[in-house]
Amino acid sequence: MPVKKQKPNTQTILVTGSAGFIGFHTAKQLLESGHHVIGMDNFNIYYDYTLKEARNAILEDFPNFTLYRGNIEDIEFLRAVFESHTIDKVIHLAAQAGVRYSIENPHVYIQSNIVGFINILEEMKRVGIKDFIFASSSSVYGENKKVPFSEMDRVDHPISLYAATKKSNEKMAFTYSHLHGMRCTGLRFFTVYGPWGRPDMALFKFTHKVLLGEEIEVYGHGRMMRDFTYIDDIVSGIIRSLEKPASFEIFNLGRGEPVKLNDFIKAIGVSTGMKVKKKKLPMQPGDVTKTYADISKAKKKLGYKPKTSIDEGVKNFVDWYREYYKR
Ligand SMILES: NC(=O)c1ccc[n+]([C@@H]2O[C@H](COP(=O)([O-])OP(=O)(O)OC[C@H]3O[C@@H](n4cnc5c(N)ncnc54)[C@H](O)[C@@H]3O)[C@@H](O)[C@H]2O)c1
Repeated sequence: MPVKKQKPNTQTILVTGSAGFIGFHTAKQLLESGHHVIGMDNFNIYYDYTLKEARNAILEDFPNFTLYRGNIEDIEFLRAVFESHTIDKVIHLAAQAGVRYSIENPHVYIQSNIVGFINILEEMKRVGIKDFIFASSSSVYGENKKVPFSEMDRVDHPISLYAATKKSNEKMAFTYSHLHGMRCTGLRFFTVYGPWGRPDMALFKFTHKVLLGEEIEVYGHGRMMRDFTYIDDIVSGIIRSLEKPASFEIFNLGRGEPVKLNDFIKAIGVSTGMKVKKKKLPMQPGDVTKTYADISKAKKKLGYKPKTSIDEGVKNFVDWYREYYKR
């Protein structure tokens, strides 16, 4: 693979899950800042892979982007990538996401989120890369009763296998920071939404149905509270973590202002200009009633400051959706 010329003060950053929602936006931001990004993704079919291909096509337009297609649980594949480049830092976002899917398909979570995670850490150790940023999740808080959720709270009761894998990732990263001097930052993302978002998530599904004039299924009777966080705010938190390496830190990246699902749905009605027809259903297994991030630690240590209101963020999503799907 030919080595591309880089601007001074730029780095080579591996972004795993680069064709995914958060990985795509993160990689794009890094590419625009002049960094060389090594993207990695298996383009799996958990959701419509053509959306992953469309995101990736945008990244491939940058001359400072190099993509590798493969599985992070495949150690030979990883070894070849880590040997082809001198990587400065790793942002690890590839994972099997989704709470509900982990109830039906537990093994894929162990493969991608546990085996894949340890493979990345081992490769970093082998070639001597020290800086590691990785995706954790607000789901580690389970049914935490105390709000807002703080990084100091005990999180020992994951109520889905997905959450259990994310909690394990935090522990594995701690071990590698302790044993091998790696600088590891785990980011607990809170319900991320925005343009190019995930088709399995509420905003995407609701917008699709609302624009067709169809009824939407609202779990927890719409009374569940979620700390919805706009993608650009999440990316700014990731980039800030990259710029401020710590020996080991966990940060909540949320908006710090939860909203009722029913209010979020109202914003979809306003942005689409459509009447929303709701079918109210009970909570689903694995779902939590409320997520609410205490973001004071990220504000203080990273200078993280979420800026996007729900109305603005939902409008940006709906505008993107209409343009992309020609609706
Ligand atoms: N979106 C959210 O609200 C949210 C909230 C909390 C945590 N997270 C975490 O953030 C990260 C990114 O999430 P996202 O929303 O962008 O999800 P996503 O599914 O859009 O992106 C993940 C990407 O990783 C790839 N991938 C999955 N398993 C892989 C494997 N074994 N090998 C190689 N590639 C693989 C997928 O093809 C996908 O493109 C994940 O770790 C997720 O668990 C997301």
